[in-house]
Amino acid sequence: MYGHWMLTPCLPVLALGLVCFCLCVRAGQIPCYTSDPDPYRRYSTKSAYAEIPAVTGGTDTGRSDTVDAGCSPVMIWHLLRHGYRYPADSDIEVFNAILPVFRDNIVANTTVSNQFCAGDLAALRDWKPRMDPSDGSKLVKTGYEEMMRIAKNFRIKYPTLLNVSIDDMLASFHFRHTDTERTRESAKSFAKGLLKQPGMTDQELEALVNRIPMTVYPTTNDRLLRFFDACERYKKTIRSKPVAELDKFDNGAIISEVIANISRRIGLRQNMNISVSQSLWLACASEYAIYGLTQDSTVKNSSAAPWCSVFIRDDLKAFEYRTDLPYYYKYSYGHKLSYEQACPLLKDFIGSVRNASTKDNFTKVVIRVGHSPTIVPFYANLGLFKDSTPLTADNFLSQGNRKLRTSYIDPMASNINFVVYKCGNAHKFKMHVNERETTFPGCNDMFCDIETLMNSVGKAADTCDFDQMCKWPIDPSTGGATRADGAMTFWLMIFAKFLMSAV
Ligand SMILES: *[C@@H]1O[C@H](CO)[C@@H](O)[C@H](O)[C@H]1NC(C)=O
Ligand SMILES: *[C@@H]1O[C@H](CO)[C@@H](O)[C@H](O)[C@H]1NC(C)=O
Ligand SMILES: *[C@@H]1O[C@H](CO)[C@@H](O)[C@H](O)[C@H]1NC(C)=O
Ligand SMILES: *[C@@H]1O[C@H](CO)[C@@H](O)[C@H](O)[C@H]1NC(C)=O
Ligand SMILES: *[C@@H]1O[C@H](CO)[C@@H](O)[C@H](O)[C@H]1NC(C)=O
Ligand SMILES: *[C@@H]1O[C@H](CO)[C@@H](O)[C@H](O)[C@H]1NC(C)=O
Ligand SMILES: *[C@@H]1O[C@H](CO)[C@@H](O)[C@H](O)[C@H]1NC(C)=O
Repeated sequence: MYGHWMLTPCLPVLALGLVCFCLCVRAGQIPCYTSDPDPYRRYSTKSAYAEIPAVTGGTDTGRSDTVDAGCSPVMIWHLLRHGYRYPADSDIEVFNAILPVFRDNIVANTTVSNQFCAGDLAALRDWKPRMDPSDGSKLVKTGYEEMMRIAKNFRIKYPTLLNVSIDDMLASFHFRHTDTERTRESAKSFAKGLLKQPGMTDQELEALVNRIPMTVYPTTNDRLLRFFDACERYKKTIRSKPVAELDKFDNGAIISEVIANISRRIGLRQNMNISVSQSLWLACASEYAIYGLTQDSTVKNSSAAPWCSVFIRDDLKAFEYRTDLPYYYKYSYGHKLSYEQACPLLKDFIGSVRNASTKDNFTKVVIRVGHSPTIVPFYANLGLFKDSTPLTADNFLSQGNRKLRTSYIDPMASNINFVVYKCGNAHKFKMHVNERETTFPGCNDMFCDIETLMNSVGKAADTCDFDQMCKWPIDPSTGGATRADGAMTFWLMIFAKFLMSAV
């Protein structure tokens, strides 16, 4: 049975004077996933919070804050994406229809199953559909825990603001979330992390949290957290349009080879299409976060997500990029409107900071819980994670260190907050991205003057005119700027037609 093991040639490596690790792989076999101590877990926006480098590399929370003497924290403004959730009902339906067929195909044919190591094959053979479409998009246990843990960590870091009684909370906190189950449950779980005392029962905690007013606007009219649904011009000109660079990448050599490889590993006679391969990737990512991460994400069980074993590291990197590409164009620097539409949120943030630094009476803790398309445009409003070169279909290989990497900046439960400090008569602030203290663009230090913040984004907040920005259709008979815009759209359409006929 071991007769046809192939040894990786080690001589060139030895010649470099390096220690040689032979990952001995049987001919035709792919690397063993279930016994890999460090599998690639960067699943872009479907990454689990506990797996991202900012978190695995240690957080700055969960210990007391260190700042200059004479300064004390007075206000926190915190934006979060909801915690881990089930895939959408339609995704779960696809899993349940396709994956059992793939599993049986792998198990029945030894030419196919021999590609997998014993552990991977056993996990695939034992795999059964576990998700029900009726649970689609709901917050999962991992998601509840993520929220609770983030709240706990900040509570330890800022006890004067966050380790307070329910009465203080009712008097000086403001919670707002979008109108979905996953954001409501996330906001509540965050509040629980702030309020939980040793010995408190779940019922007692639940009763306390239910007393906290949570502001919710209907999905159709939530400009603060769902500007992407409220901005007509954005919807008509950007969101509903295909992302040309993504189509190009999907039809290019890299993705074609990835799909051919995955299809061959599963033993399909014909290559699957991109949407089926995307489902397979989503099954890998979500099953790992939902069933593989247990006990506060400390126990990591690869076997609970066996579909990951049909991907090799390079496949996963290509899938990661395929998510980042549309994010760049639809929610970030790719189009000005894609991020400027988040200005109501910027206004809320700047208004809160301004009140905290100029008034005696202000909301001390502001919690906003939204979605991935809420937080990513907000980052761009602040100038965060801006690459010098745009993300395109052709530069995947040179963008390995891109800043706009959703696996790092926008996993489930991604979050950004600002803490305002009073230092005598002056005010300073600190920014945390995914709990890690991060230097704000334009500041010399993580602990920075409030004026630097105001000078950099205060004006954008004050001049935010959402109605004007989002007006659609643009009336060609009105002012010059609008006319120019109309002409631009016309030329863009011509250009798009030209591109389509060129490929
Ligand atoms: C919160 O404050 C109480 C005392 O008021 C203290 O016993 C507890 O350890 C604090 N909890 C945290 C997480 O700082
Ligand atoms: C596809 O599989 C071949 C053969 O195993 C391998 O050499 C190649 O690197 C794979 N390509 C990708 C993009 O994973
Ligand atoms: C098993 O899979 C291989 C490779 O995909 C294929 O060539 C062969 O026809 C399959 N055998 C059966 C019995 O389905
Ligand atoms: C991809 O393949 C699946 C399964 O064969 C099929 O149901 C689906 O319609 C295809 N999707 C596209 C976009 O072609
Ligand atoms: C890992 O997951 C597999 C599949 O769900 C399960 O059978 C096994 O008991 C789990 N192992 C641990 C240590 O939880
Ligand atoms: C700032 O304070 C004013 C006056 O109290 C209040 O109307 C406004 O809503 C506050 N802004 C924010 C963003 O909290
Ligand atoms: C300001 O003070 C009044 C009266 O004490 C209180 O009702 C109100 O909620 C406070 N406003 C804020 C934003 O804290």
